[in-house]
Amino acid sequence: TIRSVTARTVLDSRGNPTVEADVRLADGSHGRAAVPSGASTGAREAVELRDGDPARWHGKGVDRAVAHVTGEIAAAAVGRDADDQAGLDAALVALDGTADKSRLGANALLGVSLAAAKAAAASHRQPLYRHIGGADARLLPLPMMNIVNGGAHADNPLDFQEFMIAPVGAATFAEAVRMGSEVFHTLRRDLLAAGHSTGVGDEGGFAPALRTAEEALDFVTAAVERTGYRPGADIGLVMDPASSEFFHDGVYVYAGEGVRRTPTEHADYLAHLIDAYPVVSVEDPMAEDDLDGWRDLTARVGDRCQLTGDDVFCTNEQLLREGIRTGVGNSVLVKVNQIGTLTEALAAVATAHRAGWTVVMSHRSGETEDTTIADLAVATGCGQIKTGSLSRSDRTAKYNQLIRIEEELGSSARYAGGALIRRGDL
Ligand code: PGA
Ligand code: ZN
Repeated sequence: TIRSVTARTVLDSRGNPTVEADVRLADGSHGRAAVPSGASTGAREAVELRDGDPARWHGKGVDRAVAHVTGEIAAAAVGRDADDQAGLDAALVALDGTADKSRLGANALLGVSLAAAKAAAASHRQPLYRHIGGADARLLPLPMMNIVNGGAHADNPLDFQEFMIAPVGAATFAEAVRMGSEVFHTLRRDLLAAGHSTGVGDEGGFAPALRTAEEALDFVTAAVERTGYRPGADIGLVMDPASSEFFHDGVYVYAGEGVRRTPTEHADYLAHLIDAYPVVSVEDPMAEDDLDGWRDLTARVGDRCQLTGDDVFCTNEQLLREGIRTGVGNSVLVKVNQIGTLTEALAAVATAHRAGWTVVMSHRSGETEDTTIADLAVATGCGQIKTGSLSRSDRTAKYNQLIRIEEELGSSARYAGGALIRRGDL
């Protein structure tokens, strides 16, 4: 039984305020969760409540969200059974009463939803991944490590937001992390040697002043090879252009490269990159408002490349159902704060899995030391996680948690590798 619910303002990895919630049960068990925050958000995400007072935190304060947790939400949650996560989450959604969670704030609801799950896990003396996923939860995800940052996550001219490496050929999760770290450090040396900055962006990847996706993919592919791995067979490449960010009035405007591409030209360009490089997965290849483009690209390359919807679905089960029905991609990115409760995020995963779609558990560009998503990746057995680079503790905290989970599972642990990615040549 939930005895108390509290919250406070803490800092996220960009130095912005965010909500951290604590849930205590009558038996003394405790759960704590800090809420992440995006920069390239989808238009249909649940609302992150910010105070908008320019005199404090440049308008980004979360005092109202914190007050909602300690006030209305605590009043509704205290006395509820923490084992009934679905019941608690339904009560939170009903209490908010809006379709987009704009009254109490998805940041207020999510902090309590996740903290309650952690308190319940602690009460049963279970790790979170087992409490949520049961005894079968033993699949460690393929990590998609973001080693070059652009777009809204860096101030360089790169139009595409993320260039990632995925160690599909590793034998274990721990080995995948080692491989990723080795490539990260090779890339650092290569960038330095070429006279580029090795400062990092919001997700810990390098943010060199490159102008085209090809330049970034060339650097990454060369770093994989120079480290001694085979691009494709050992390490696949993954991109998140975050295309909604540069789709304006029906045209993809590549400001850094200095070109404009129609939806067809943009899709042609992506198809070219997918064929020219060992790209195994592309997230948000097309903009959230370009569903025709999404369907065309899926029909063209969906048989040989995972196409993951982030902005287009916003972890919203209804939007996802519609996308599955109409052929918008073949995979969904899951960000718990896009929807605002654990139960709804798990529903999106279940819907994707029922349709034979793949699922990528994901961080936000604004993160904290909270590692809940690492456990959620194992709990759902989704087999893929994207949680940033091999630097910055907000990113490495999740990899470190997965290393611990793999160790705890011992010989029963399985590493997903590239098995869930659909490219025929893997
Ligand atoms: P965001 O970016 O957290 O800034 O939205 C991550 C992504 O687009 O996947
Ligand atoms: Zn994205």
